[in-house]
Amino acid sequence: MSAPGVRLPIDLRPVNERLRIFSGIQPTGRKHLGNYIGAIRQYVEGQDRGEAIYCIVDLHAISVAYDPVELRERLYDTAAILLAAGVDPERCIFFRQSDVREHTELTWLLSAVTAHGDLNRMHQFKEKSAKQRELVSAALFFYPVLMAADVLAYRAHEVPVGDDQRQHVELMREIARRFNERFGETLVVPEHRIPPVGARIMDLQDPTSKMSTTGGSEQGTVYVLDEPDAILKKFRSAVTDSGREVRRGPGKEGISNLIEIISVARGVDPEEIEREFEGAGYGDFKKAVAEAVIDYLAPVRERYAELRPDEAELERVLAVGAEKARAIASEVLADVRERMGFGPARG
Ligand code: AMP
Ligand code: TRP
Repeated sequence: MSAPGVRLPIDLRPVNERLRIFSGIQPTGRKHLGNYIGAIRQYVEGQDRGEAIYCIVDLHAISVAYDPVELRERLYDTAAILLAAGVDPERCIFFRQSDVREHTELTWLLSAVTAHGDLNRMHQFKEKSAKQRELVSAALFFYPVLMAADVLAYRAHEVPVGDDQRQHVELMREIARRFNERFGETLVVPEHRIPPVGARIMDLQDPTSKMSTTGGSEQGTVYVLDEPDAILKKFRSAVTDSGREVRRGPGKEGISNLIEIISVARGVDPEEIEREFEGAGYGDFKKAVAEAVIDYLAPVRERYAELRPDEAELERVLAVGAEKARAIASEVLADVRERMGFGPARG
């Protein structure tokens, strides 16, 4: 027994314990090339690097106007896209956020160590609240706390995300630190993992703004499930610049974006692409990018078509994942509750 007030440290990462990776993705269904390159690609790779945990964040989806029937449909779409991309329930924990109630409970508990001022500074809140036509919900404001709970409930070490989530990961680190300071070492302070190439894929029609489901242009957004014809058209009409050199640089946002895209799709360095297309015209280059992306996404689209119709099977997969997730999160929650003074003290 320890003396009253003295906290035994919880062993946060015993030697030899595997790297634990956690990420979440919204059930919007229409996943685009930015999501694929910035995030989904990293999820698949993560399965080889550590213990990977991925969840579809349906609770986050209700922070803006939504339709319950649609939500369920889009959740299945998203699940099938991830599975088609190579997220493998045999090699990771793959589940639906709302199935694991610990996320919601931890959100409230963490709100006690979250600064209101920090939430007020979140870029995503400012952007999304400015766009809401009707209600700006408290859920939208609280979104980053739920996201912190997602990760901290698993004591994950690493969070693969695109560049736009940098500030949210910074905040969850701050929340974990403040919790540990206030209640004793309990939570892991996670690190983001943002890919060096492709962390911010830009809209093809407006290469100064990021490709996005909301706010972007239809013609400038390549969806994972787009048919080859559509992909070709979108790249053909991609906005470039008045120059003629296929290389990255200031004033060349459009071409720089295309170089990043093709280099990820082909699995080579951007420098190699610049060398290969030295002296080539923009037209030929755009066509090559389109072809690389078509080849890159075709297997995903085909596999998706096989998986999506079987909703019972998707439910089964998600239920197995939720059970595994709960087993981890419930233990962390027991520690958190005890440290915060809820329930009887544990010996
Ligand atoms: P969401 O669909 O909003 O849940 O986003 C899923 C993941 O995709 C997050 O990790 C984002 O950071 C990432 N992401 C979203 N848009 C882009 C983009 N244009 N380029 C790279 N990554 C992105
Ligand atoms: N906010 C993230 C996004 O929009 C999704 C998300 C929710 C997430 N919970 C998470 C990402 C936990 C990483 C870890 O993309």
